[in-house]
Amino acid sequence: MGNKIRWGILGTGRIARAFAEGLKHTINGELIAIASRTFESAQSFANEWEIPHAFGSYEELAGSELLDAVYIATPHTEHLKNAVLCMEKRKAVLCEKPLAINAYQVSEMIQKAKEHDVLLMEGMWSRFPPLMHEVRRLIQENEIGEIRTIHADFGFRPEHKDPEGRLFNPNLGGGSLLDVGIYPLSFSSMLNGKPKSFVTDWTRGETGVDEQASIILKYPNGSMAILHSSIQSDTNQEAFISGTEGTIKIHKQCWRPQKITISTRKNSKNKVIELPFSGNGFNYEAEHFSQLLIDGKKESDIMSLNESLEIITLLDEIRGSWGFSYPFE
Ligand SMILES: NC(=O)c1ccc[n+]([C@@H]2O[C@H](COP(=O)([O-])OP(=O)(O)OC[C@H]3O[C@@H](n4cnc5c(N)ncnc54)[C@H](OP(=O)(O)O)[C@@H]3O)[C@@H](O)[C@H]2O)c1
Repeated sequence: MGNKIRWGILGTGRIARAFAEGLKHTINGELIAIASRTFESAQSFANEWEIPHAFGSYEELAGSELLDAVYIATPHTEHLKNAVLCMEKRKAVLCEKPLAINAYQVSEMIQKAKEHDVLLMEGMWSRFPPLMHEVRRLIQENEIGEIRTIHADFGFRPEHKDPEGRLFNPNLGGGSLLDVGIYPLSFSSMLNGKPKSFVTDWTRGETGVDEQASIILKYPNGSMAILHSSIQSDTNQEAFISGTEGTIKIHKQCWRPQKITISTRKNSKNKVIELPFSGNGFNYEAEHFSQLLIDGKKESDIMSLNESLEIITLLDEIRGSWGFSYPFE
């Protein structure tokens, strides 16, 4: 493996563009290929982003000897199939969140990564900006004492409600929980681990998917997390960690953290830390992943496969308690 990872992207949608931009701001990766289900779309994306190789099928990109790593930027329902296609060709895979639709699919994906001995990671990009490293350091160093409560939410109202698009279409794994609810749930998991119980309720939309979800998690030590997701309305998009000795607020938008306020019992004045992104933020997860690959690692210590599995298992249990499953499940 060289010291610059050669990347390809599967899919030419919205997030593929954000990742292409992010890669431009990394020192250890370069984007050299794009694949679409149609050659025209791949070629137009390649022209826009000045990418040397365009493929008119995912299979061609997966099989290309030019590449080391593939970023999967397709709807949730396609992740398993697309990731397996690439891993079978010994490509490292960074797959958008959620890693797959349910725990069954995620387990299968992890098993394939182990079978083919390749690096696999869920693209939970919020974990990698410098400020999230700072939040983890503050918690580890006991700056706010023991965590007792987390409040976090991610809600937005899309401009157009397209019943066929991936956000509202049950056949594409639509709904707020898997699209945005996974951010506060992953955040809480990062800080608190696995909950022992939860209560939840949801709002079912016209297409049958969850347009709102509220969840209260309870952890073995009595700590709690109050989380919310919505694709019906804009919410605060903030996170608030309350400990026995102080609090940390991650300002809007907490899923792309750039500003926190720390308030502690021992200091009378609040401390504000601002760490604006260099690049668009996707560069941090891309750089982390490229470095893992350069170092010969098969898993990330910041977003481990076991944790991805734990999180999707919880999402399954939450959906199960509502009596909501996807048509293909
Ligand atoms: N990290 C983040 O902040 C973030 C933000 C948004 C989305 N995401 C994640 O990224 C993934 C993609 O989201 P997106 O918003 O980029 O979606 P999108 O704009 O709809 O694009 C998805 C792309 O996937 C490809 N595709 C393959 N099979 C498809 C199918 N059956 N139906 C529709 N498209 C299909 C298409 O590319 P071709 O036609 O070129 O093959 C399409 O352009 C989702 O899993 C989502 O959770 C992450």
